[in-house]
Amino acid sequence: MITPTEPDEATAAFIAGMPKAELHVHLEGTLEPVQRLEFAQRNAVALPENDVAVYTDLTSFLASYYPNMAVLQTERDFFDLAYAYLTKATAQGVRHTEMFFDPQAHTSRGIPFSTVITGYHDAVVRAEFEFDISAQLILCFLRDHSAESAMDTLAESLSYRHWIVGVGLDSDERGNPPSKFAAVFARARAEGYLLTMHCDVDQPNSIEHIRQAIEDIGVDRIDHGTNILEDPRLVALARDRGIGLTSCPLSNAVVSDGGKAPEIVELLRAGVKITVNSDDPPYFGGYLTENLLALAATTDLTRDEFVRLQRNAFEISWISAVDRDAHLARLDAYVAGWAR
Ligand code: HPA
Ligand code: ZN
Repeated sequence: MITPTEPDEATAAFIAGMPKAELHVHLEGTLEPVQRLEFAQRNAVALPENDVAVYTDLTSFLASYYPNMAVLQTERDFFDLAYAYLTKATAQGVRHTEMFFDPQAHTSRGIPFSTVITGYHDAVVRAEFEFDISAQLILCFLRDHSAESAMDTLAESLSYRHWIVGVGLDSDERGNPPSKFAAVFARARAEGYLLTMHCDVDQPNSIEHIRQAIEDIGVDRIDHGTNILEDPRLVALARDRGIGLTSCPLSNAVVSDGGKAPEIVELLRAGVKITVNSDDPPYFGGYLTENLLALAATTDLTRDEFVRLQRNAFEISWISAVDRDAHLARLDAYVAGWAR
């Protein structure tokens, strides 16, 4: 039985100041309304008169998400978008981030892959130089496009292999199981990419999709994936193999019944490497700290458990063992500083 408690001021400050890693954020999903206006103006893209969107599930969210990307046209737009996110993330104590991008959402409207990846990569290089943050890019395939389109996108990505750490799978899950992309993910693995994929919350066949991701595809991580609790065998498998789950409470609260807070607590306490992330911050009402505070307000998670969530994030991140250990040592030093 979980007793919701608003975090006291000290706990909120502790959470806000913690060194963090974010592993589930969509760069296209960081587009703030003011940026959208700014990019629309400078690119002379007309915006609809009245476009206040209401969404209550994944499909209706995506229906307003993709049209907004029309304002992203030039390398500078992609640079500015990623640089703005990295600036905000740094201000929230994020020390390492792995960011999704959706090339097909741009190539399908005539924007070259090179424009997208060069803008994003330049922002990573600039932010790493200017801020105390490291950042990596994860290429996501759109699962409601064909496997052939994903394979073509994978082939195109290989010229930029050294700028991309892994591949993921996002967009509308209904009728688009992991198995549709088995060959694409096998090729990605052979090319040296790390593998993750969305298993969104409360989808038709969620648990079968999670099983396919783990047993048939052999993913390193799953994005969302809290429905894994429906099958204790898969929970044990994820725990034993150290397969991380990247959950997003504020996003889940919009697209499903509740923010999956009880599920996150249960999985954390079962020893699964679950983490908290922001998904598409302006669309769902908050960046990483707001997601953690929302979890603090709706669960009885202790400070030690919030530290555990961040340890998990560094542990399942796709960085070198040396960098990971440096991040963990910094987290330990932060906790020790508070205990004094
Ligand atoms: N799920 C699927 N597709 C997405 C998401 C998500 O959480 N965010 C952006 N595209
Ligand atoms: Zn997502």
